[in-house]
Amino acid sequence: MKQLEMLYEGKAKQVFRTDDPDKIIIHYKDAATAFNNIKKATIENKGVLNNAISTLIFKELHKAGVKTHYIETINDRDQVCRRVTIIPLEVIVRNVIAGSMAQRLGIEEGTQPSNVIFDICYKKDELGDPLINDHHAVALGAATYEELNEMYAMTAKINEVLKELFLKMNIKLVDFKIEFGKTSDGEIVLADEVSPDTCRLWDATTNEKLDKDRFRRDLGKVREAYEEILARLQKIVG
Ligand code: C5P
Repeated sequence: MKQLEMLYEGKAKQVFRTDDPDKIIIHYKDAATAFNNIKKATIENKGVLNNAISTLIFKELHKAGVKTHYIETINDRDQVCRRVTIIPLEVIVRNVIAGSMAQRLGIEEGTQPSNVIFDICYKKDELGDPLINDHHAVALGAATYEELNEMYAMTAKINEVLKELFLKMNIKLVDFKIEFGKTSDGEIVLADEVSPDTCRLWDATTNEKLDKDRFRRDLGKVREAYEEILARLQKIVG
């Protein structure tokens, strides 16, 4: 398989076409952004760490029967994935209240809700990915009600698998964001990445933050936190 031209450049990744129409190559960069691109930096080796972390997580999800875009990891920064059309929604799962939900609703970060919370946001950089609901998503043409239900069922399963995996690493999965894509034959699969860029991960004993909040909130030791996640993951599944 040959890598061809770049199809898309995101904040943390590049996507390349290949000579196989059903496969793309995803390249993980060291760039870090927050607050819709207002804050930018390079975190040395982040791309390598996120590629490794995301690879191990996709493999665990696959073992648990979750359909994903992941095919194989070909070097320390590149994955071969199925080519999909990204559904322009971000699905957010909150097991513990933190971040934007804590702010928006005036709830103390770390509060345990009685139920798991699913949010959806419309993926549109110019609008800052606004929080929407199912009816908005359907009216916007982002997904049908049936597709939303399928995405929510997959999301619930993904949350169960990831919560258990992280707990084995003595890590609390506070919240995370995922994206779905549709393959050429109409199948909905988990796409994008699952990494400390897209999850809030707190040490279960100390509540130390081991994720991108270290960058967002200038807490220091960002790379070290990502390294810690990879090391604990490798101990469990590596
Ligand atoms: O910002 P907020 O608190 O709503 O984020 C919830 C979760 O979704 C966090 O784990 C965050 O890292 C992730 N997220 C993301 N990409 C976004 C928005 C949120 O990965 N554009």
